[in-house]
Amino acid sequence: MSVTLKDVAKRAGVSAATASRVVGNYGYVSEETRQRVLAAVQELNYRPNVVARSMVTKSTRTIGMVVTDITNPFFAQLARGVEKVSWEHGYTLILANTDEDIHHEQAIVQVLQDKQVDGLVVVPASSTESSHLLAVVDQNIPLVLADRLVNGCSVDVVMVNNEEGAYEAVCHLASLGHKRIGMILDNLDISTNQERLEGYRKAIRDSGLEVDDHLVRSCQFTHQSAYAIASELVRQNNPPDALFTANNFMTIGAIHAIQEAGLRIPEDIALVGFDDLDWNSLYPPQLTVVAQPVREMGRIAAQRLLARIAEESGPPQQIRLNTEFIIRQSCGAQAQISNTSDHSE
Ligand code: RIB
Repeated sequence: MSVTLKDVAKRAGVSAATASRVVGNYGYVSEETRQRVLAAVQELNYRPNVVARSMVTKSTRTIGMVVTDITNPFFAQLARGVEKVSWEHGYTLILANTDEDIHHEQAIVQVLQDKQVDGLVVVPASSTESSHLLAVVDQNIPLVLADRLVNGCSVDVVMVNNEEGAYEAVCHLASLGHKRIGMILDNLDISTNQERLEGYRKAIRDSGLEVDDHLVRSCQFTHQSAYAIASELVRQNNPPDALFTANNFMTIGAIHAIQEAGLRIPEDIALVGFDDLDWNSLYPPQLTVVAQPVREMGRIAAQRLLARIAEESGPPQQIRLNTEFIIRQSCGAQAQISNTSDHSE
């Protein structure tokens, strides 16, 4: 039989209401009484019923986080950043995965609401489907978007300078003399791909090159799908002499396809990818990448959510972090690092 608050109150010789104030850390209690109740808690090994307590405090001290692929190192790092800050402020994280499926996202957002989470951090699987997120806002449940934005959903969002990061990467490839620069990306309904594609196209134009849509291929958000589309691209007549990949899964698929085609990086095809991975600097060709401050993105998303849970008012904030362009071997240039310009909107 589990120990109840009444058992604690009896052991300490106080009323249940007094014991509740001590355990719930609210209201006035003399220090002598507080110590007597805490001693009883320890002696009886009492564990408060958090569900019952949440009915009183209207807070479960939990944060729901929805990401699109928990197997992707990017989202694992993002969740790590959110979890660290949440835990430091007494909140537990409930992590959910959607596999980039908007219908799954709609269902899981509802489940987390039903579980009475105190707030939500969501990586949206669509930049256009917003009704389920607007329903969260309408119920005054704090919501922060991370990594991607959703049209018409005016809440705090934390992401990076996707367009500037892609622009710098593709201008770099053009500056090395590449004339047929291809791009591989996945779901065009997410804002990161839309912004990175815009940066790619702007860089092609500003470098005096022609935008050739045959060099731009989109696929599913898996490295297997990226491998298939990259294989087509590198084996076609007049293949690209350089590739820009829109995220880590696209990069993995492209490298696999290029090597399977018997081609060399960067000698036959130079490569720059968005997202750094721990092993990018370990194996040749060491990858030239646009790196994102993922942990920092998670930390700031959690801070924004906690501020909103604490009823901070004020207009929604769109926070864009710098990316870092890390030049290694795969583009064919000498190694160096640079940051995109800050661009807070
Ligand atoms: O690796 C996941 C990618 O998709 C990252 O670039 C992130 O920005 C997301 O949009």
